[in-house]
Amino acid sequence: MQLFFAASHLESAQNFQQVLSERGVEIDLYEVEQLNARFFRQHTDLSLCVDEQGLWLCANGMRMQPDWKAEVSRLKRASIKSEMIARACQLSEAPKLIDATAGLGHDSLLMAHLGAQVILLERHPILFTLLEDAQRQSRTDALLTKVVDRIELVFADSVDYLQSYIQHNKQVDVVYLDPMFPQRDQHQQAIKKQAQVKKQMQLLHLLLPEQGEMDLGDSLLPLAQQIAKRVIVKRPRHAVFLNEQAPDHQWIGDACRFDAYFQLAL
Ligand SMILES: C[S@@+](CC[C@H](N)C(=O)[O-])C[C@H]1O[C@@H](n2cnc3c(N)ncnc32)[C@H](O)[C@@H]1O
Repeated sequence: MQLFFAASHLESAQNFQQVLSERGVEIDLYEVEQLNARFFRQHTDLSLCVDEQGLWLCANGMRMQPDWKAEVSRLKRASIKSEMIARACQLSEAPKLIDATAGLGHDSLLMAHLGAQVILLERHPILFTLLEDAQRQSRTDALLTKVVDRIELVFADSVDYLQSYIQHNKQVDVVYLDPMFPQRDQHQQAIKKQAQVKKQMQLLHLLLPEQGEMDLGDSLLPLAQQIAKRVIVKRPRHAVFLNEQAPDHQWIGDACRFDAYFQLAL
């Protein structure tokens, strides 16, 4: 994977190269004069770049990072009453929660803001490094500092992580799952929405391609059910059930829904 940087960010680029190499991603560094719109138009392949705002994923003339600072206004508007995710995950009870499919971490940022203590799991080395950088940068914002203090980022495959909880008889209040869903299989309405998906999601889909046997995350549900009082699965509104398991309860919104699986009383 190529990483582009301007001369003033050489040290930062080398740090990311080192970190990513430890996570199994070999990076070739390329110094460029300027990372401007023209540069991004000319370099359409999936790559990384570094500037004063940190690490970015780039492709097709676009660039993205899990921009947690840009979420601040959304966080300020959010409340336990107004957010469906808050009701689904019972955030009013300040649960201990594992988000086993981090992605850009936006759902977890909201859940931590509304009271959850979050363990955020991501297995993709580049995405994890982008998340780590987002968390580091959030510490310069007064509101976000308090929120990200409630998020522990873990670079792991959730299957292994949940299995280790089972082996050690550990429990959490909630496991939250939002695995990738093939764009092509979504209901027409959802596909229309996909045409306008933010470039963040478009680039995420390039990084986590759908060719062949995309991991739909079915195996996560039975594992999660063994360690959590409640498992909440986020799905596109018309998507099939995760692991073909009918939920105990659903909250349905315009574009997505939350399927809930409750632990039986022992
Ligand atoms: C649709 S995204 C999640 C979006 C996220 N809810 C958000 O708010 O940005 C799914 C993410 O889960 C990750 N993922 C899927 N299966 C995983 C597993 N077994 N272990 C760790 N991460 C996994 C993928 O790499 C991807 O980044």
